Amino acid sequence: MATIYYTATSLDGFLATKENDLSWLDALPQPNTDTYGPFIANVGALCMGAATYEFLLAHVAKGNPWPYQQPTWVFTHRNLPTPAGADIRFVSGEVAPVHALMVVAAAGKDVWVCGGGELVGQFLDRGLLDELVITVAAQTIGAGKPLLPRMARLRLVSAKMLGAGFAELRFVPRRNS
Ligand SMILES: NC(=O)c1ccc[n+]([C@@H]2O[C@H](COP(=O)([O-])OP(=O)(O)OC[C@H]3O[C@@H](n4cnc5c(N)ncnc54)[C@H](OP(=O)(O)O)[C@@H]3O)[C@@H](O)[C@H]2O)c1
Repeated sequence: MATIYYTATSLDGFLATKENDLSWLDALPQPNTDTYGPFIANVGALCMGAATYEFLLAHVAKGNPWPYQQPTWVFTHRNLPTPAGADIRFVSGEVAPVHALMVVAAAGKDVWVCGGGELVGQFLDRGLLDELVITVAAQTIGAGKPLLPRMARLRLVSAKMLGAGFAELRFVPRRNS
């Protein structure tokens, strides 16, 4: 069981544009290996910030199903709607007690911290992140929502080309070395 930040990013370190647009990702040559399928199959619980949740709500509003079977914790200070069929738990504040709940719910599977970057930073600050799986796009976007707005000391454990559009980099936090 591990707590993982799994995400795609632009080469210059942004998850999305300032307007939360992700269409630039879809326009790239898609990965020639399915890394998401095996990853999500072993996720038992996930969490995300409000902007990421609102992006998914907009997707659902267009007629798409809620994408996750797993219990999902959403960090927000606001009252947001819950799509039909989704197991959503709204929370606010300290991430450590929420992480403890997610670990129990995951029942031995992985915990996915989806983002955004500041929320992931809160997990990193408290030593709760075990791994970062970052799919780097062959594209810069100049500005936007940051991948991880922190000074983070990491160790690269693998690098894999996924075709012309993406490379997957895996890191672990460097705790005391
Ligand atoms: N490229 C990818 O694969 C990928 C992956 C993940 C996300 N994304 C996209 O990247 C963007 C991320 O947006 P973002 O950087 O603004 O981050 P976000 O984490 O999705 O949203 C930030 C908001 O989450 C809430 N929040 C965060 N920590 C909290 C805490 N401890 N307690 C209570 N509320 C808390 C606050 O919302 P309120 O105070 O407003 O309620 C905060 O303004 C989205 O567009 C998302 O769709 C892309």
